[in-house]
Amino acid sequence: MKTRQFLAILTFTLAGMLFSCEYVHIVPEAPPEIDPEVPISFATQIETIFNTGNNCTACHKTGGTSPDLSTGKAYASIVPALINTVDTTASIIYWHAHPSSTTHAWKKYTVGEATIILEWIKQGAKNN
Ligand code: HEC
Repeated sequence: MKTRQFLAILTFTLAGMLFSCEYVHIVPEAPPEIDPEVPISFATQIETIFNTGNNCTACHKTGGTSPDLSTGKAYASIVPALINTVDTTASIIYWHAHPSSTTHAWKKYTVGEATIILEWIKQGAKNN
């Protein structure tokens, strides 16, 4: 092989290696830092996940699909029926709409929302 031919092939190969790879960075959503010492508030942190922008209450409202997650009704709908205090991650209110579950495909929690819900359950699912 002539030197010029070799150099031409080498140049194309290197250029190809340089420009062919396009990296797409997918940054997974990091779960929020949760301090287990700080109590999660049902009224300001949990109920707001359900009703902000009708996230869940579009369907789960009074007279709609059970459970009724509307403000003022949500707690009684969830506790104790959808809570598992022994195996907290098996709680229906946590797992049914969890991003990794195979159920409830049309609407999932964000990773951050799921983390907050689980911590609230671990803290005793209080009506605070
Ligand atoms: C588009 C309508 C719709 C929206 C929005 C919606 N859901 Fe649902 N959800 C349903 C339907 C329909 C069912 C019953 C079928 C099933 O079990 O998946 C259901 C079931 C559930 C159940 C199971 C109840 C049980 O007793 O087994 C839970 C828990 C639940 N949804 C939570 C949520 C949460 C939390 C949100 C908001 C993040 C939400 N849903 C948003 C329609 C909706």
